[in-house]
Amino acid sequence: MKKDIRYYTDQNREAWNEAMPKHQAASKERLDQLFSKPGYIYQEDENLLQVLKRIDVQGKDIIHLCCNNGIELLSLKNMGANHCVGIDICDEAIEEAQERAKKCGIDCEFIRSDVYDISEELYNSFDIVQLTAGCIGWIPDLNEFFRIISHLLRVNGFVLIHEIHPFSEMLPFDNNYIENRLQIIEPYFRDEAIVENGSLDYVGGTDYVAKTQYWFVHTISSLIMALIKNGIRIEHFSEHSKDISAGHKKQEELDAQIPLSYILVGKKE
Ligand SMILES: C[S@@+](CC[C@H](N)C(=O)[O-])C[C@H]1O[C@@H](n2cnc3c(N)ncnc32)[C@H](O)[C@@H]1O
Repeated sequence: MKKDIRYYTDQNREAWNEAMPKHQAASKERLDQLFSKPGYIYQEDENLLQVLKRIDVQGKDIIHLCCNNGIELLSLKNMGANHCVGIDICDEAIEEAQERAKKCGIDCEFIRSDVYDISEELYNSFDIVQLTAGCIGWIPDLNEFFRIISHLLRVNGFVLIHEIHPFSEMLPFDNNYIENRLQIIEPYFRDEAIVENGSLDYVGGTDYVAKTQYWFVHTISSLIMALIKNGIRIEHFSEHSKDISAGHKKQEELDAQIPLSYILVGKKE
């Protein structure tokens, strides 16, 4: 039986608070060093860089939802964005982001909040809402999520999504993958959350039995319908064989050339 949205997001908060110290042990010092170089940009994905160039972040007010430790937002600030706000439910991730922004003198604001509880004071304040790798899967109710995103945007503002393709939810993860074979082992359509206790340490690679997490497979059609219902017109949509989930790296090279990620830009009308 489905539970209230907050049940899922509270549990996921606990799981992320447990995971972040493991990420930090593996990467915090290195990230501090990288961002201490003035103008440093942590973004190597060519497909995304091209789209960022096209929508031009210079002077734009940007909010990044599910920003984790904030490195993508710090990079947008270093690319010339104006007011930058990062939102994440995880206490540990936001503390790390705030610390690094201060230490490296990069003017970004980081707020610990569930995306469903974002203050209405932030409504109508942004030119770009950004969502990146591994955000949408944590979101129990996509319609309500895009209703809030639409409110955050000014008219003619953009939502920029760089996400894991839901097609990849049907594939085995790399640790169960049989070399050079395309296998569909999971359904595409799911009404219920996937309940997991798997390691969230895709940074340090430690294996542990994690606190229970709830992951939601949202199909491409449910994403498009959530945009339509909330007055966001699609301006760009591209699918890519590049894995951005850290779970299907080996399958990038398959001859079958499967869609593992996508980029969508929508404009608020
Ligand atoms: C995989 S990370 C996002 C990653 C980011 N693109 C990166 O590569 O660091 C997912 C993030 O979503 C956050 N998150 C999950 N549910 C959330 C919610 N309801 N509200 C805000 N943040 C949430 C988690 O705390 C976590 O930091």
